[in-house]
Amino acid sequence: MIPGIEGDPRVYLNGEFTPLSQAKISVLDRGFIFGDGIYEVVPVYGRKPFRMAQHLARLERSLAAIRIPNPHTVQQWQDLVGKLIETSDAQDQIVYLQLTRGVAKRDHAFPAQVVPTVFGMSSPFARPSAQARRDGVKTVSMPDERWLHCEIKSTSLLGNVLARQFAADRDVPEVVMFRDGYLSEGSSSNVWVVKEGRLLAPVKDNLILEGIRYGFIEDMAAARGIALEMRPISRAEVDAADELMLSSATKEILPVVSLDGKPVGDGRPGPVYARLREGYDEAIARL
Ligand code: PDD
Repeated sequence: MIPGIEGDPRVYLNGEFTPLSQAKISVLDRGFIFGDGIYEVVPVYGRKPFRMAQHLARLERSLAAIRIPNPHTVQQWQDLVGKLIETSDAQDQIVYLQLTRGVAKRDHAFPAQVVPTVFGMSSPFARPSAQARRDGVKTVSMPDERWLHCEIKSTSLLGNVLARQFAADRDVPEVVMFRDGYLSEGSSSNVWVVKEGRLLAPVKDNLILEGIRYGFIEDMAAARGIALEMRPISRAEVDAADELMLSSATKEILPVVSLDGKPVGDGRPGPVYARLREGYDEAIARL
């Protein structure tokens, strides 16, 4: 059995649904050999995908960035996600989609003729606990040691994996990373700063992944009259923040109450978090 997986769920691999235990790829798959692939993580609430169009648009951008032809139309992707949802009884799910360049003789350059590998699975989604939402989470900082194409949702995640383990080794759920003294993001989430009622976010450039929640929070800030500035944010500004937040498909929006053992603001989740959280829950309820 596979650690962390209950039973033997059906998964999608290259056109077919099979039990997870039967789904096999070649050891020459370039995802395995080179990490030459991209992925998406789509949250599902009450069996309905949240912000699916935005997730599929980012999937398309990631594929284009690494020059893998998209094997499916938007409609086909939507149908596939619908079928993945049917593989699970859970109301709330996390749909994982991954494409790699495919299987070929090992050579760094793109093979001439290769068929992308397409994998999909859905798992029950344990939403952030009431306690994390109410009391917030602790974080630690570290230098961002990743490459310079963090905008691609690539499966080459060694930098992110090591960053996440840096947090795990310190018994906290996430890191806050800085590159050259400026805020980038977490190991697997975007980071938000609040100062004097204004929401600050790092610029959407090659140094961060543009989360689907990034766009959603932009929309919510506009709708709720919260001023939003997207610009480089220094370490000093993060240390002086009134509020810090994390966002991702699996964390939704979570308040950060400490960084490196020091309280953020008054050490409790703040009012801007409360307003965004309300908007998040409303959007899910409307799905
Ligand atoms: N991670 N930045 C990084 C590096 C991420 O890996 C993620 C998401 C985000 C937030 O993106 P979104 O709002 O679209 O989830 C930002 C997913 C959840 C993962 O790798 O499991």
